[in-house]
Parts: sequence; C-alpha cells; structure tokens
Amino acid sequence: MEKLQFIVLTLVTILSIFSDQILVQSQVSLEYVRPPPRRIITTPHDRPEAHPQQVHISLVGKDHMRVSWVTTDKNAPSTVEYGKLPGKYDMSMTGEHTTYRYFFYKSGKIHHVKIGPLEPGMTYYYCCGGAEKEFSFKTPPSKFPIEFAVAGDLGQTEWTASTLLHINKTDYDVLLLPGDLSYADTQQPLWDTFGRFVEPYASRRPWMVTQGNHEVEAFPIIHAHPFVAYNSRWIMPSDESGSSSNLYYSFDVAGVHIIMLGSYTDFDANSAQYKWLQADLAKVNRQKTPWLVVLLHAPWYNTNTAHQGEGESMRTAMEHLFYNARVDIVFAGHVHSYERFTRVYNNEANPCGPVYVTIGDGGNREGLAMMFQKPSPPISLFHEASFGHGRLRIQNLTHAHWSWHRNDDQDSTVRDDVWLESLSSTAKCKGTAGDQRQFKPIGDEL
Ligand SMILES: *[C@@H]1O[C@H](CO)[C@@H](O)[C@H](O)[C@H]1NC(C)=O
Ligand SMILES: *[C@@H]1O[C@H](CO)[C@@H](O)[C@H](O)[C@H]1NC(C)=O
Ligand SMILES: [Fe+2]
Repeated sequence: MEKLQFIVLTLVTILSIFSDQILVQSQVSLEYVRPPPRRIITTPHDRPEAHPQQVHISLVGKDHMRVSWVTTDKNAPSTVEYGKLPGKYDMSMTGEHTTYRYFFYKSGKIHHVKIGPLEPGMTYYYCCGGAEKEFSFKTPPSKFPIEFAVAGDLGQTEWTASTLLHINKTDYDVLLLPGDLSYADTQQPLWDTFGRFVEPYASRRPWMVTQGNHEVEAFPIIHAHPFVAYNSRWIMPSDESGSSSNLYYSFDVAGVHIIMLGSYTDFDANSAQYKWLQADLAKVNRQKTPWLVVLLHAPWYNTNTAHQGEGESMRTAMEHLFYNARVDIVFAGHVHSYERFTRVYNNEANPCGPVYVTIGDGGNREGLAMMFQKPSPPISLFHEASFGHGRLRIQNLTHAHWSWHRNDDQDSTVRDDVWLESLSSTAKCKGTAGDQRQFKPIGDEL
C-alpha cells in the first residue's frame, strides 16, 4: 500500500511539474529576459521533539493574537507564556491542538493558542509549550498609519526567500497573503518545511492568509475532503467574524476592514459564502473603518494570458456586492506576475469601483507568467512579470500609498506606486447599495 501511495504521489508530482514546464515555455515573451524559477529550499527540522517549530501568529478579534505551532512530541502542552519584557512572562494561556492524516502521512501535534488582550503597537515576548526558545512579535497599531505587506503565491524557493527578506527589511504591521502558500501539492512534509521556512517572519508579525488552488489537495474518492492541511495549520478568525468556514472571514485593524474570500468554495447567490459576505458588508461602518479591502485568489480582472477567465464566475456572482459597498482595493494572486488596474466595475473604468491588483509573484516553484494580452486593455494601468511584493501604507482616513517592489537579486526596487483615496471620502461615491437613485450600478440588469 505504501509503495502504491508513493507511486501515485510521484506521478502526480511529475505530471504537475511537467505541465508547469509547458506553461512556462509557451509563455516566454521575446521582449523580456526574466530570471528562471529557482530551486526549492527544504528547511530541515533541527530542534528537539518537544520544541515548537513552524511558529506563526495571526490576529483574532480586536486585541488578541493566535499563536500556532507544531511539535513532534504528542505530549507537548498547548500553552503560550508571554510578557512585555524578554524572559519575563507574566501571562500564560492554554489553547487547543489538532492533528490530521493524509494518506499515510500523520501530522505532528498542531497547537493553536489565543492570547490577549494585548495592547496595540506593543512588542511582546513569548515562548510556546514550555520550551525556552523565545520569540517576539509586535501588535499592529490601533490608529493610522498602518502598513501591510502583500505577497501571493509564495511557495518555498530561493525567490521566496528573496521576497521575504525584502519584506522584512522595512518594518510593516501585518502580512496579507491572497492564497497559494506552500505548494506542497499533496506532499504533506512540504507543509512542514514551509512552516519552518516562514517562521522567522510569521512568528514576528501576524500573517493573515486566504487559500488558493494549491491548498485544495482533494483526491477523488480516496481523499475527497478538501483543504485538510490548510484548515488544520492555518486557522483564521472565522468564528470571530460570524463565518462558519475557515475559508472566508474578515477582520478590523486600525481603521481598515479586511475581507478574505475563498475562490475554491461555493460563491453563487445561494451559497453560505455569498450570504456571509452580504451580511459582513452590511455591517461595515465606514466611520470606524473608512478603508475596505478584499483578498481572494483567482483574479476577477487579469490581462495575462495565464488563467484567463478563471475568476469570471465568481466576479459575475459577487461584483455588484463589492461595487455597492464601495470596496477600495481587491488583491488577488494565482497569476504569477504583477498587474494593477484602474477603478473598475463590470469591465469598465468606474470611479466608484475597486482598484484591482494581481500580486501572485511571491516566488513559487512554477516560475513567472510572462505573456500579457496585446494591445493592453485601457483599464490595465501597469503590469510586469517579476517576483516581488507589495506595500499598502494607509496614511489616514482618506489617503493610502500603494507600491510594488520587484526583487532585483539583493535589492528590491519600487517599480509601481500610486496614491489612493478611500471611496468612503470620495463625495460622488459616498452612497451605498441603499442609495440606488444616485448610484445605479452600470450594466446591472437587476
Ligand atoms: C527581520 O528583521 C528584523 C529586524 O530588523 C531582524 O532582527 C531579523 O533578524 C530579520 N529576520 C530575518 C530572517 O532576516
Ligand atoms: C492624509 O494624508 C495625505 C497624504 O499624506 C495628506 O495629503 C492629507 O492632508 C492627509 N489628510 C489628513 C486629514 O490629515
Ligand atoms: Fe494559484
């Protein structure tokens, strides 16, 4: 049996690598000479069995943090000790743990502990499960300015290492990831190497993620249940945002309401995700959170020849909700390049629609998506196929600065940047769904 599983998984891997190669080769453009994909780094486990590994943190509710980690030792406690001074832990919280199986793989003990209440803009020192290794993180501020790092389709290659190094070089508050994390693609030990790979960064700042196609990991009949590894390892604050699924949720941080959606779960008008999104948008108070940002994996707007049309059914189902709620920015991944659109609604430039950004260029093993449609449609303002990351600095309730930083080997270079104004303060866009007289959605037959 084990041999059979090995053969099946090997075949799957070979097939997926092979199809990626074909994709890359067919997309090589003559205009650019882009660096090729770089090798995968497999970060080893070099700590004792009871010691925490793969430590990462995420925001939960107004003033709590979830600390997640894995131990090989099944008896290691799910406890976090923490405090404001190094080595002095005057607070302690105990949480929960889980494990999962995937074919013949059995995960380590995956711990999740909610700690808090925490003060904003404060450094905390912590250790997990009684092991002496100390970590620290900084909580985000409670007021503007706040800075988000944004990187999608991360993987665990030398390019990923370069992207994360650049992200870490300048201080930021929260990392936002629009899907495709480990590229384990059913090979579960690659989830563990990914956890170790990102720990130096994900244990210092909250990482808020949503899932992509590489997280699905369903296998017909034998492993029909999708997202098993993702849902066990990357628990996000769905309970706290009234969502019944870890695949979509929202959170507030320093005057920004952020919604994370699932591109690979139901989204039509009768679905639980649609109803949750509708209710969540209705609750947004733009006085309290003037900025409204959405992340999802498969882009609704995309002029790259890769993955054309893959976000279209979700766009058709949900775009009017974004438009009526005056969503400011939508980040997507999936396409391995960078692209920024103007404000768009229903395929046309619209001053009250969201700005769409594709940022699937974190550094995964598949390489870049090189080819864009020609001529470039006028709603697409900038695109480039290079690895990199984005920065969203929300300056105050009206202004934010967006920049895209390309990996130029040792350095990162700003290749695109723009000031954005929140739609909550744009006089002609202030109406919402309730005010249809003034803001009749264009092209909406309903
Ligand atoms: C990230 O940046 C911090 C602060 O400059 C530094 O202490 C830390 O070593 C960096 N981490 C890595 C992995 O480079
Ligand atoms: C918000 O920030 C922008 C850009 O820095 C600035 O021009 C504007 O005056 C600020 N608005 C307020 C109310 O401070
Ligand atoms: Fe993807």
